[in-house]
Amino acid sequence: MTTISIIKADVGSLPGHVSAPNHLINEVEKVLEEGMEESTIIDYHVASCGDDIDLIMSHDNGEGESEVHELAWDAFQQATDKAEELSLYGAGQDILSEAFSGNVKGLGPGSAEMEFEERESEPFVAFLCDKTSPSAFNYPLYKMFADPSNTAGLVLDPSLHEGFDFEVLDYYEGETANLSCPDEIYDLLALIGETSKYTIQKVFKKDGSPAAAISTEKLNLIAGEYVGKDDPVAIVRCQSGYPAVGEALEAFSFPHLVPGWMRGSHNGPLMPVSEENATPSRFDGPPRVVALGFQLNDGELIGPKDLFDDPAFDRTREKAQNAAEYMRRHGTFQPHLLREDDLEYTTLPEVLEKLDDRFS
Ligand code: F6R
Ligand code: MG
Ligand code: MG
Repeated sequence: MTTISIIKADVGSLPGHVSAPNHLINEVEKVLEEGMEESTIIDYHVASCGDDIDLIMSHDNGEGESEVHELAWDAFQQATDKAEELSLYGAGQDILSEAFSGNVKGLGPGSAEMEFEERESEPFVAFLCDKTSPSAFNYPLYKMFADPSNTAGLVLDPSLHEGFDFEVLDYYEGETANLSCPDEIYDLLALIGETSKYTIQKVFKKDGSPAAAISTEKLNLIAGEYVGKDDPVAIVRCQSGYPAVGEALEAFSFPHLVPGWMRGSHNGPLMPVSEENATPSRFDGPPRVVALGFQLNDGELIGPKDLFDDPAFDRTREKAQNAAEYMRRHGTFQPHLLREDDLEYTTLPEVLEKLDDRFS
């Protein structure tokens, strides 16, 4: 069995919250290189999306394995030291604990992991986001795995025809439910349309083989107060019984509105971009998604191919920019502004307190 683990964190950025500089990428690479020499992992690739560093690792230790998590933790610690040395902005932002304790879950970094028997040829795509939250994947994963208008294979390919199962997480209760699609598509949609409460955490084939895994940590819920962004990642297996690479990418051809953007408090379009263009500039955004395609070869990561680095997504980017302009014109009003519960910065409690005796 092979495991793919993507563990990600924002541990410092240049300037403000725009990009993870090479100084930090070099540091995490040094630690992962040692991890490879010591056989903790088989292979790795370090990527970034905006101010987030994504450690894409392959190994044979299974999901949630403490040595692999500790390796990622050490890499982010070393990058944090560098970020502090250089006085980079937000140094150590997503490192919420003094010490490592078995697993990065709950300590700040996000993780998406998937263990499976490698097929004869094993293509997968790593989707990496910045300036948004895990529920940004609800719409595209539904399109990919349940909507034949996106994934022609659901109709045309006998190996996809029976559909997929979705594991949905209720953020506030910390509980999951499994929904079997296409039978329960309407129930699934009833949940995952509520993006501030429910998020898709995993997708499976009917025989239980994993199809997709999403990082679902919400930093603000972990720490009980605003401490950073959730900026999610996802792993999607492709071809031969799974969506084709092009079907997985097609799910991002509509730049749907997601929460995040400036101060994590605004709705804006999710713009698919190349890794080089994942530099959220305008109003710290708009939110970005990068797609890196790999082939696995006995745990070795061949690639990546930067899949949104393609003129076929120019129209989507143009639409995203039109939507960004349209949303921005709302200024401080909803629906550009998130509803009160979802705001990551607000002065509302203080304003209400000040005005308390003025309401009658
Ligand atoms: C959003 C994000 C940025 C910051 C904003 C203010 O994910 O990271 O939009 O929220 O730049 O940052 P601080 O509070 O660090 O000045
Ligand atoms: Mg940051
Ligand atoms: Mg970020």
